[in-house]
Amino acid sequence: MAEKTKSLYRIVTIPVFYEAIQIILGRDKARKHLREHYLQTKKGDKVLEVGCGPGSLLPLLGDVDYLGMDLNPVHIEKAKQSNGDKGTFICGNAVTEVEHAAGPFDLIICIGLLHHLNDDEAASMIGALSKRLSQNGRFVSLDPTYIDKQNCIAKKLADLDSGQNIRTQSAYASLFPTTKFNLDSRELSGLLNIPYNHCLNVLTSG
Ligand SMILES: C[S@@+](CC[C@H](N)C(=O)[O-])C[C@H]1O[C@@H](n2cnc3c(N)ncnc32)[C@H](O)[C@@H]1O
Repeated sequence: MAEKTKSLYRIVTIPVFYEAIQIILGRDKARKHLREHYLQTKKGDKVLEVGCGPGSLLPLLGDVDYLGMDLNPVHIEKAKQSNGDKGTFICGNAVTEVEHAAGPFDLIICIGLLHHLNDDEAASMIGALSKRLSQNGRFVSLDPTYIDKQNCIAKKLADLDSGQNIRTQSAYASLFPTTKFNLDSRELSGLLNIPYNHCLNVLTSG
């Protein structure tokens, strides 16, 4: 797993610091945008979130049947404490332990995970999870990206990220299956309170 977790980077593995940094950066505005335009959950939807962190997205999803998975046991413990019985949270590797997520899922959410995985890991995980989508189900990912003529602060922030596989939009898109699915892959700017560029991918099963 290509993730920096030593020295200062350890801070993001501790839920209270991770949450504080995210809120200061403007996470709530970004999530509202995602919720309204891309996640669009409906009551009763079966939702899987891989790399769910401390489970703070779940309260925004409404009345859904939710399963969250993360590699970090401390995040999973915090997710369980914060969400009670509103969802199920399991500690596991979304690349090698997808059998824990039976599906089919109406929505698979993958926010901030792909840039922690190398190409083989990411493509293998997406391939396995895409087979667990229901008819018209969607896999939605969001990650930091490099763009042409990028603002120098946005570029520096991407360089400093603990994930070591930040890609261009086309490199993210190449991780997704090309047959039997539709892929909408795009760059998004202005989601956070700081100069930053994201790549959003929405894979829809036909
Ligand atoms: C940048 S954080 C994003 C957390 C959350 N999705 C959010 O938006 O706040 C990336 C998360 O992916 C988790 N992670 C990294 N590799 C993973 C893997 N192979 N399987 C499951 N989770 C993983 C990390 O523990 C971390 O919680």
